[in-house]
Amino acid sequence: MPAKRDLRVGLVGTGFMGRTHANAYHQVRRFFPQESAPELVAVCSRDEDKAANFAAQWGFGSHETDWRRLVERDDIDLIDIASPNDTHAEIAVAAAKAGKMVACEKPLGRNLAESQRMVDAVESAGVASMVWYNYRRVPALALARQMIEEGKLGRIFHSRFKFLQDWTMSADLPQGGAGTWRLDAKLAGSGVTGDLLAHCIDAALWLVGPFAEVCGTTEVFIRERTHALSGKREAVTAEDAGLFLARFANGSLASFEATRFARGHKALFTLEINGEYGSIEWDLHDLHRLQYFSHGDESALRGWRTIHVSDSDHPYMMAWWVPGLQIGYEHTFIHQVADFMRGLATGEKLVPDFRDGLAADAVVDAVLRSARSRRWEAVEDFAAPFNLEGVG
Ligand SMILES: NC(=O)c1ccc[n+]([C@@H]2O[C@H](COP(=O)([O-])OP(=O)(O)OC[C@H]3O[C@@H](n4cnc5c(N)ncnc54)[C@H](O)[C@@H]3O)[C@@H](O)[C@H]2O)c1
Repeated sequence: MPAKRDLRVGLVGTGFMGRTHANAYHQVRRFFPQESAPELVAVCSRDEDKAANFAAQWGFGSHETDWRRLVERDDIDLIDIASPNDTHAEIAVAAAKAGKMVACEKPLGRNLAESQRMVDAVESAGVASMVWYNYRRVPALALARQMIEEGKLGRIFHSRFKFLQDWTMSADLPQGGAGTWRLDAKLAGSGVTGDLLAHCIDAALWLVGPFAEVCGTTEVFIRERTHALSGKREAVTAEDAGLFLARFANGSLASFEATRFARGHKALFTLEINGEYGSIEWDLHDLHRLQYFSHGDESALRGWRTIHVSDSDHPYMMAWWVPGLQIGYEHTFIHQVADFMRGLATGEKLVPDFRDGLAADAVVDAVLRSARSRRWEAVEDFAAPFNLEGVG
């Protein structure tokens, strides 16, 4: 059989996520050899030098300074959006209309209306989509999902999710502009809710199931910051911290907390799930370990155990080194590309698509609504049915 044509990628954005995606496209060829592989056709950044340097460093065949050129080019199959949130909807809708597949960083849109437009665009064009909820591709979390699917935890009663950082605590940090666009809600849509809580929410959707209702609160600790573009002091509208309680469709309860004001924490994403037969705990700082308690163990020996998720029968680990040697953050993006490519070849949906992104954004929207109304708010369920998507 002739080899399938490579997937020709046009990447928008050369920042943090631009680098993780470019790296993933390169590495997937080497560690997940398959019929087809990504070809790095072009990268876009508004700054000519940045675009040219990124293309040279990461092996893209060409560069552009306007994303519209990427969308127009007929040598590109997939538009990958790794630029700030205010750009997502416009680029995704234009790409889908041009018949391109679309990959987009989370959150999809700045608000639910933008996210819905993006879903409508890919679904009416009939093009494949993917949203980069990369933590689903941490082997330890993929194993957790398998364990839940196999019933090892039994009925779930509780879960707890936290994502703690401290990088915006200085009052001198500006809002808006390159590097600090996350502090300007006009660009980001929201603060920690769409940024950090979105990861917790996606993990909860994946591991626990659909949300029924939420009750939350948010806070802006530094109320005014200089805007990087205007140079003027402006009110801060992106929340620094957010907490919420959730009730799930399966009757379980959860708590969520995210902040950029937890001194000493840089990216402390943790989760714990307590079920009838067992519990699991995970921590991004130790991402290759899964803590597991099984009530079914012999009572005298019962206790929390640490699973070092590095063996060849663990999700994704067959592709890497030898048992006992761990992998890290960048690999989650490589796994996501590998799963996306496999899904394209087999016709299966193996990665979160725009509809899954919309489901997470609907929870973000309900949390922000609740923070304003100070009441419980219902969550609209947009997700595809809760099923195990070919993990690992
Ligand atoms: N999956 C994750 O874990 C994760 C982590 C960080 C960020 N993100 C998401 O990734 C996206 C990008 O975040 P980042 O941290 O890489 O930001 P960043 O500020 O590091 O990089 C953004 C890049 O986009 C470019 N850009 C801005 N406007 C553009 C435009 N109109 N056309 C072309 N390029 C443009 C900037 O020049 C920059 O290169 C955001 O949506 C963010 O929420 C996801």
